[in-house]
Amino acid sequence: MEPSPLEKARYAYRPKLPASLSCPLPELACDRLQAALPDSDREELRGFFPRTYGMPAIKLGSGAKDAASAKKRRTVGIILSGGPAPGGHNVVAGLFDALKAANPDSRVIGFRGGPGGLVEDKSMDIDAALVDRYRNTGGFDMIGSGRTKIETPEQFDKALETAKRRGLDAVVVVGGDDSNTNAAVLAEFFAARGAPISVIGVPKTIDGDLKGSMIETSFGFDTATKLYSELAGNIARDSASGRKYWHFIKLMGRSASHITLECALQVRPNVAIISEEVEAKRLGLSQIVGQIADSVAARAAKGENFGVVLVPEGLLEFVPEIKVLIDELNEILAADEEAFKALANDRQRVDFVLERLDHESKAVFEHLPEDIQAQLIWDRDPHGNVQFSRIETEKLLAEMVGRRLALYAKEGDYKGKYDFQTHFLGYEGRCAFPSNFDADYCYALGYTAYALVAAGLSGYLSSVRNLCAPAAEWVAGGLPLVSLMNIERRHGQDKPVIRKALVDLEGQPFKTFAAARGEWALSSAYRVPGGIQYFGPAEVADASTETLKLEHGVKGAR
Ligand code: FBP
Repeated sequence: MEPSPLEKARYAYRPKLPASLSCPLPELACDRLQAALPDSDREELRGFFPRTYGMPAIKLGSGAKDAASAKKRRTVGIILSGGPAPGGHNVVAGLFDALKAANPDSRVIGFRGGPGGLVEDKSMDIDAALVDRYRNTGGFDMIGSGRTKIETPEQFDKALETAKRRGLDAVVVVGGDDSNTNAAVLAEFFAARGAPISVIGVPKTIDGDLKGSMIETSFGFDTATKLYSELAGNIARDSASGRKYWHFIKLMGRSASHITLECALQVRPNVAIISEEVEAKRLGLSQIVGQIADSVAARAAKGENFGVVLVPEGLLEFVPEIKVLIDELNEILAADEEAFKALANDRQRVDFVLERLDHESKAVFEHLPEDIQAQLIWDRDPHGNVQFSRIETEKLLAEMVGRRLALYAKEGDYKGKYDFQTHFLGYEGRCAFPSNFDADYCYALGYTAYALVAAGLSGYLSSVRNLCAPAAEWVAGGLPLVSLMNIERRHGQDKPVIRKALVDLEGQPFKTFAAARGEWALSSAYRVPGGIQYFGPAEVADASTETLKLEHGVKGAR
């Protein structure tokens, strides 16, 4: 593949390494901090993870004495797991560079196509020439990604056989909440089998919902939200130019609304729905539609028959009556999987669930348009999640708002004109060239993963924090994966999984949005962030997200 001019220019970019990782590798020391414990379900989690529960958090710095361990020749396998996120290739580059700097005979092996590559032993050698072709570029295509959940005893045995056959000292899993749940279970399994193979996770996901103490953000969120904000800002300006459309923009993020909130802070749309608020206020679908229709009517009264609505991808799961419906659908689909799979078309599948839903959920389901009914029962992903990227929530809302406005018009409360366009911004953000922030952050995460492996640790998530400061001041370390877990219902069973970090309604990003949205609803003074800048002054090219700045008390855009 012929590299583009920007690709060539980005090959030459040198990620900024935190000072805490810049000492000679043999001197890199691991300070063991206090034990990191989960927030809930402690006894159950201790039962599931007897060997990796209660481990200390780690802080990296200089001052190590055991140079021999750092210089040991190692073979490390790496897996890119789940949806792509900008910066994944730099995690590989950071790991590779650190490993080779410590011992040039060490090797990195890439498992192809996600966790399934480890189970099926589909691997490839990662050498310097390959890494150089992918530095600072987007995508996961260097080795590919996948969503296989490692859960059966056979899969675990096969993963261990592969690790032994390949002579692995460690496996690094680059993934979101589900993939790092896989990593935690694998670490426990290797420990139980007495296999001295570290498993280290790296926090990835554009959704931004893998965070907690010591994990300030997941990588990819920065680039993806910058790209979506650019596009949403351009659409907003188009809407103010043509003055004839309401644009409903669904933004990726299967569960949490961090992406929508960040884009709202960047663009200042007329309406942005935050799923977590919908859940907290127990807003039904009809109320959400009413709120949007009221905004449309208020702007129409000013002669402005245009506007922008941001819709989080996972909204429907937070609408109380639809959440109950989805939970019931999940149980029905899990209980009768074989019979359901044998059905020939969407009509038969819809009838199948209608026969089994209880009274109230049946009524909710029957009121949804046919295409949404079908989308709600399409396959779950291997981790049991509804695939919200395939559900056209933006269309559902745009059409329902139209029907509500027709009622207002009948009653004489609305005299405007309503035409809409719908958009889904998702896949176009996941493989963008990583911003300087993500390029630096990912390289440091990969480098840190090496340091945790060299310290003989397993069951940890690579952590780089203090991210609002210049990269040189970032602090590297590790957080036990189990400390991020809780027990949830998946595929009809209670399972230990990493808890998704949802939007905190008491947090500064949401409060800032909530304080300003009344003004934004009526104003057409959209903010147009423009494209990601890879070169130029630091305040433009290295800026982090509004979310991160507001969460850490750095003055945001407002
Ligand atoms: P990860 O959690 O694996 O990072 O993936 C997140 C995501 O991008 C969601 O925002 C989206 O709903 C989903 O992946 C889409 O998945 P797929 O690539 O399987 O269609």
